[in-house]
Amino acid sequence: MIKASDFGPDFLWGVAVAATQIEGAADSYGKGPSIWDTFSKRSGKIKKGHHPATACDFYHQYQSDIRLVKTLGFKIFRFSISWPRVLPFGKGPVNKEGIRFYHDVIDECLANGLVPYVTLYHWDLPEALEREGGWTAFSINHAFNEFTTLCARTYGDKVKNWIVLNEPFGFTSLGYMLGIHAPGQTGLTSFFSAVHHAAIAQADGGRILRSEVPGANIGTSFSCSEVVPYTQSEADVMAASRFDCLMNRLFIEPALGMGYPETDWDVMEKFTIQHSTWRHTGRLSFDFDFIGLQNYFPITVKYNPFVPILQAWEVKAKSRKKPHTAMGWEINADSFYNIIKQFAAYPNIKNIMITENGAACHDKLTGNCVQDTERIEYFRLYLGALLKIKQEGINVTGYMAWTLMDNFEWAEGFNARFGLVYNDFKTQQRTIKDSGYWFQEFLKS
Ligand code: BGC
Repeated sequence: MIKASDFGPDFLWGVAVAATQIEGAADSYGKGPSIWDTFSKRSGKIKKGHHPATACDFYHQYQSDIRLVKTLGFKIFRFSISWPRVLPFGKGPVNKEGIRFYHDVIDECLANGLVPYVTLYHWDLPEALEREGGWTAFSINHAFNEFTTLCARTYGDKVKNWIVLNEPFGFTSLGYMLGIHAPGQTGLTSFFSAVHHAAIAQADGGRILRSEVPGANIGTSFSCSEVVPYTQSEADVMAASRFDCLMNRLFIEPALGMGYPETDWDVMEKFTIQHSTWRHTGRLSFDFDFIGLQNYFPITVKYNPFVPILQAWEVKAKSRKKPHTAMGWEINADSFYNIIKQFAAYPNIKNIMITENGAACHDKLTGNCVQDTERIEYFRLYLGALLKIKQEGINVTGYMAWTLMDNFEWAEGFNARFGLVYNDFKTQQRTIKDSGYWFQEFLKS
């Protein structure tokens, strides 16, 4: 049976959350609207018309929620600062109540012996900046640097661990290419310009934190998915390689000073040729202290000439009759092992932390119990794979479970439950699930 102590005494165990998904108080206490506040008002964008206005009401319940993190036995609490809560217009006037709130959250962590890991950008762009073009506009970099400087100067004496961006591929692809996340922009031109400005932001953010926060431990978090060709045919293998450029290589390679993965992907090359300055990789790279990796599923792809740009599409787990979570995401701990090894093979990565991993299940609250055995099994399998990676000498130093409690799961609304703690969204009653108790025992072991 796997034990936390197998990972060694210095291994860091944490749980992760994000502002929009839990805070609520979306239009109170001086907070400005974010792109998620406006996007969720557009009809048909979020399942069942849900919106993050109240979410888990963490804004008012942060003290008991942080105590819950301690009760479960975690040592790290990863949360994000809502940009429009501290800068309601994205730049300019500062909202003192917002600043106070994060001081309170940080102080509560420290009082409970928890180490705060702060994410600067977990997808809640101020709406005022979206009106200027959001991540597609060059001006975003100036505004992001102002936000980063404010956070670093305000909290830097208490917070030493920082994550600049959460999954830049996630918010640029879903929000600026496919339009299924806020702000709902579509098309390749907006996607690639959002990518470029996000790649600049991740490195600029690192540099600002380095100069403003003495002793800072600076990382940024990438989504990653092993990409598997459906067959070994040349067409499927090439299709998988294009997907890999898009899903796995697009942000880490510029961050490491390697530039964009254009040689293996002609569409990317077309954009970098059009914008020759994108090849000036100096501003895109930063010497991160750790790389955050977030994995949920592998992806199997098949050549498909009718799909524009990638000429490839995913063959879903369900149609391949593979075990999958309530999101339809394949459960496959070997693929977790493979993709972490793929990233660990890059030179110059000092240290890897798993900054998110978890599963959505069809949880049912019965009395005071949620018997989520599937989620327990998922964590057992994935932690087993992680242990194997660590034992092979890869410098993985921490693991953060996604997530503390059921929350606003973006376009899925409140319909997908990922928490170790069940949340009743009508009463805001929290109930520790069996998986939460499992983690509690595991962390004692
Ligand atoms: C995001 C989280 C999200 C989780 C599950 C990650 O991509 O960072 O905010 O809830 O996946 O979908």
